Amino acid sequence: MDTVLVTGGTGHLGRDVVARLKPSHHVRVLARSPGSDPDVEWFRGDLATGEGITAAVSGADVVVHAATLSPAARRGFLLPVDFWRSPPEVDLDGTRRLLDAAARAEVAHFAYVSIVGVDRARIPYMRVKYTAEELVRTGPVPWSILRATQFHWLTDRMLGKAARLPVVALPTDLQTQPVDSQDFADHLAERVAEGPGGRCMDFGGPQVLTLGDVITSWQRIRGRQRRLLRLPVPSAVERAARDLTCPDGKRGTTTWADWLRTHPPE
Ligand SMILES: NC(=O)c1ccc[n+]([C@@H]2O[C@H](COP(=O)([O-])OP(=O)(O)OC[C@H]3O[C@@H](n4cnc5c(N)ncnc54)[C@H](OP(=O)(O)O)[C@@H]3O)[C@@H](O)[C@H]2O)c1
Repeated sequence: MDTVLVTGGTGHLGRDVVARLKPSHHVRVLARSPGSDPDVEWFRGDLATGEGITAAVSGADVVVHAATLSPAARRGFLLPVDFWRSPPEVDLDGTRRLLDAAARAEVAHFAYVSIVGVDRARIPYMRVKYTAEELVRTGPVPWSILRATQFHWLTDRMLGKAARLPVVALPTDLQTQPVDSQDFADHLAERVAEGPGGRCMDFGGPQVLTLGDVITSWQRIRGRQRRLLRLPVPSAVERAARDLTCPDGKRGTTTWADWLRTHPPE
């Protein structure tokens, strides 16, 4: 049975990945606050400081690196600072530390989780992720890079925050292709079974929707009607949003509306 270390195993995607891998792998999780699942080998550690990394990686066959620090995702909305800088200590410095430890431990497969369109996007969080991809690609450990579109949980969180105001002003014509992190975890588990695959096919949700469609379903299913102000956006922004979709990629099966019906708000 292979030993797989999952970073970010307490996060949204990481929890799904751990659940998928547990039946057929010995699963380790490196976490700042270890959980209590007895079927997981927990390692207390911190990618930002380096604590615990060597112990967690030592003896692992595969590393699935799904930890991240996105302040915008955490708070559920963007601030001007998000267009200026993104903290590098987890996604960049942490990835470098993890790769070094994986090389020393002769890990056979380093699977890095990334984002569709990360090479074309300009916002700092995406630039940080793309630089981390380059570390993985040019590093000594055999690798896979798996990119996904935005997860349903994050779209839900962001709309929940926006709906705190009586009027929601959003660029409703933008395209988006939200995906269920569980669908992506299934895909990721298959890639783990296959071994290092380089840059894997992009993975997105089953539907390319407009933000307007996304909001309409959300308001109906969550029962939170707000006045919607449709903001126009320049065509360059529309193109940038389209770059974050992958209509020709692999697709999950859980639609946005189905996901909303089966997941209460966090
Ligand atoms: N969210 C999306 O829409 C989306 C879309 C495509 C790809 N992705 C990518 O998918 C991956 C997982 O995203 P997610 O949505 O599951 O994120 P998430 O729910 O925010 O989870 C992030 C995980 O990283 C851990 N982490 C943060 N700082 C850490 C540190 N210093 N040391 C160790 N662990 C740390 C967190 O642990 P704590 O609980 O200790 O903070 C948590 O387990 C990321 O690579 C992300 O870029 C996300």
